[in-house]
Amino acid sequence: MAVTAIAKLDAERLRADFPYLEELQNGVPVAFLDSAASSQKPRQVLDAMTDFYSHSYANVHRGVYRLAERATDAYEGARVKVAEFVNAPSEREVIFTRQATEALNLVAYAWGLDNLGPGDLVVVSELEHHSNFVPWQYIAGRTGAEFRTIPIDEAGELQLEVLAGIAAEGQVKVVATGLVSNTLGTVNPVEKLTAWAHEQGAIMVVDAAQAAPHRPIDVQALGCDFLAISAHKMCGPSGVGALWGRRELLEQMSPFNLGGHMIRTVTAVETTWGQLPYKFEAGTGPIAEAVGFGAAIDYLSSIGLDAIERHEHELTEYALTRLAELDWIETYGPPVARRAGIVSFNVDGIHPHDVCQILDWEGVAIRGGHHCTQPLMHRLGVIATNRASFYLYTVPEEIDRLVAGLEKVKKSLG
Ligand SMILES: Cc1ncc(COP(=O)(O)O)c(C=O)c1O
Repeated sequence: MAVTAIAKLDAERLRADFPYLEELQNGVPVAFLDSAASSQKPRQVLDAMTDFYSHSYANVHRGVYRLAERATDAYEGARVKVAEFVNAPSEREVIFTRQATEALNLVAYAWGLDNLGPGDLVVVSELEHHSNFVPWQYIAGRTGAEFRTIPIDEAGELQLEVLAGIAAEGQVKVVATGLVSNTLGTVNPVEKLTAWAHEQGAIMVVDAAQAAPHRPIDVQALGCDFLAISAHKMCGPSGVGALWGRRELLEQMSPFNLGGHMIRTVTAVETTWGQLPYKFEAGTGPIAEAVGFGAAIDYLSSIGLDAIERHEHELTEYALTRLAELDWIETYGPPVARRAGIVSFNVDGIHPHDVCQILDWEGVAIRGGHHCTQPLMHRLGVIATNRASFYLYTVPEEIDRLVAGLEKVKKSLG
């Protein structure tokens, strides 16, 4: 078998694409280590959106004049890019949403309300972001289904040995997990979970919000039934995300939001729904944002998702090594081989908010808090962690600045 070399990414060169990274705070650029919350935006995306708003903007799917057709082509072109990005069999299976959260709510409501009931089990993991936890917990409660979580082990990896026990408790109908944990960086074994879900007759829902910016996504290889992503974490604008769903399931589901654009016919007696994907896209969509999303996908694809993944892997290895030099730091999460570019840690006796505040004075931006994963915090026995996260524009010197900043934190508050 031929071995394809993964091109090495030149982060220093790519940094020039990001206006924010050129700005100075107290005379130095900020070491922006919070891309897991939201990424910075390259000029290519900003320019594509400005150009679209300046020259091609109109509402889509409505007008027959040329400007409206141009806008519609750009919007639908972005849908094709998303479909190709996740290797969807058809762009009609791609629904634009406001973000991953709305995509996951769409599945929980539109599939869950009609397909769950007493005796059924909804299974998520202890690692989930609230976006893939709370909707399922709520819809399980509304329908009388039971809600179960797959626990993690000491390293922050899912304990798959509990699955047989869960299956014995009822009819598993939904398995919903993230591909990459936003707090620990754990890469979950989604293919295995999908196989198990399908053995149970359940659907598999994948939250790929934290994976899609950093590694190739292939819904056909994963074998899942639904997958959610957010543009703002992958160099695109806020306000747009996407749900990919298996066509047969989307066809069977009732709509989620109701109103203009999603109908076929409306009379005082009855309303019928439009075809996919419009059935799930009520109202005016995130038009310019979708165009920016498409530009972000072009940008990431031009660099190569494999190269981005490898770059972040090297940074994570470096960060874990440097943090291990500080014996007053506790890091959480799996070995680097099964982890994305995210490192959560705590400084002995110092609250993450204080750590982050002092780091900000040093020009280092990281996140401190529960990261929308309170069940995971509970499992770790902490109320919060610090989280440094990396992206294609992160350089090792920024990790050195994080470590130097932490030494200052320890000196001032330790
Ligand atoms: C794993 C994961 N899932 C879902 C979300 C929700 O993303 P959004 O706020 O864009 O809907 C996030 C955001 O941090 C996340 O990291």
